[in-house]
Amino acid sequence: MSYFEQIDKEKLPSHVAIIMDGNGRWAKSHGQERIFGHFNGVEAVRASLKAATRAGIPYLTLYAFSTENWNRPKEEVEALMNLLVETIINEIDELDRNGVRLCAIGDTDQLPDACRTQLFRGIERTRSNAKVSLILALNYSARWEIVNAVKTIGRSGISEEKIDADLVSNSLTTRDFPDPELLIRTSGEHRVSNFLLWQIAYTELYFTDTLWPDFNEEEFYKAVVDFQHRERRFGKTSEQISPSAQTDKVR
Ligand code: IPE
Ligand code: IPE
Ligand code: MG
Repeated sequence: MSYFEQIDKEKLPSHVAIIMDGNGRWAKSHGQERIFGHFNGVEAVRASLKAATRAGIPYLTLYAFSTENWNRPKEEVEALMNLLVETIINEIDELDRNGVRLCAIGDTDQLPDACRTQLFRGIERTRSNAKVSLILALNYSARWEIVNAVKTIGRSGISEEKIDADLVSNSLTTRDFPDPELLIRTSGEHRVSNFLLWQIAYTELYFTDTLWPDFNEEEFYKAVVDFQHRERRFGKTSEQISPSAQTDKVR
């Protein structure tokens, strides 16, 4: 049975976030420059979006460029920015046709002009689409986001007693989206790399050795099935979560 067929439609995560990692190593393993890996990663982006749409998952966030990624060689940063512009230009018609709402989180003001133009054009054009929200994390880092939220709250002059977790959540760039329920990281690295630190407090983490350009629809469904087999306890006991399991054990 395929992983798609194993998905329980009643237990879908509402939001999947992905740290798309391993493009450089994929390119190297094919005897090519790192940039070749980024180009080939676009197909995995398409596959993930298709999978989320087909499964009925309404929010998909992709970590495309971190604030730390500016420290890479200049040619690589330029190639990534050009790839972003070209991909939006090439894909926007299809995204729109498929009911995808394009969104962005991160310090997008600092992106090159051409990126900002295409990105905002795409966001504007697809803003009333409702099937799936594709959220690109661009020039994003969780610490940048949290510092910004703290500044906003400080500037608002709100009294200390009124500061709570909801206020912090609503001061983040992700305020319009639910927290991710599943976070996937490819390429065998077991770290979060400054991604959605506040939002993943109770997110299920899924790691795969697959390098990003090799990630495909079935791999996406496999992660969803794995997620569905976990027991999310949110600090409670297993018996509180599923009382029937307790009864079974007692019998
Ligand atoms: C992920 O692949 C893409 C970005 C971070 C933009 P990498 O480029 O990090 O690939 P590796 O980790 O070096 O293999
Ligand atoms: C995380 O990947 C950032 C993105 C996927 C955009 P990195 O490759 O930059 O992360 P580290 O440096 O291995 O932690
Ligand atoms: Mg990497």
